[in-house]
Amino acid sequence: MTAKPQRSAPARPQLPPVAKQAIYAGSFDPITNGHIDIVLRGLRIFDRILIAVLENPKKDPLFTTRERVAMIREIFSERPEVEIQSFHGLLVDFAEKNRTRIVIRGLRAISDFEYEFQMALMNRKQNPEVETFFMMPSLRYSFLSSNLVKEVFSLGGSVSDLVPRLVERNLRARLGGQSRGRIPKKAG
Ligand code: PNS
Repeated sequence: MTAKPQRSAPARPQLPPVAKQAIYAGSFDPITNGHIDIVLRGLRIFDRILIAVLENPKKDPLFTTRERVAMIREIFSERPEVEIQSFHGLLVDFAEKNRTRIVIRGLRAISDFEYEFQMALMNRKQNPEVETFFMMPSLRYSFLSSNLVKEVFSLGGSVSDLVPRLVERNLRARLGGQSRGRIPKKAG
């Protein structure tokens, strides 16, 4: 008599075993050169990167989801291997819907680690099929964040080597020059 194999029926459809595509998720409010650096590094490993822009009304973003997506699309318009979509709900559900098992997150400094660690483990709990892949940006972007860009710009500082020109133009249009405008909230 042969032993019956243990049945652990997967509740979820199987994802492809080879990760050709990775999701790079974030708020991107706005996208910075640090984010772009991560995408370009990611493309050295993955054939395709799907940038997933969080629809986050709770975070009161400076740019609407549509604006953030449009900026990123424009920036990567000559890179067909980069796709941009917005998403809401759980990131792991978005990953499953797009048949992708790798989620890229950028790690800038040790201070990022705790939050990222929690998020990665929570995502794994929600769907063990999805792995988080941490990548470090170039050292020159290791201090960079969208929030700092918004704050520095709104206070009249220069962000020209921290964001693409298109983003700088949009910051100017939204914040009305470099010396006025609201100082963005911390989250985002
Ligand atoms: O750029 P951010 O704001 O640090 O990105 C955070 C993001 C979008 C990756 C995270 O908030 C997220 O995945 N949100 C979707 C909701 C979700 O899945 N939450 C559980 C993660 S523990």
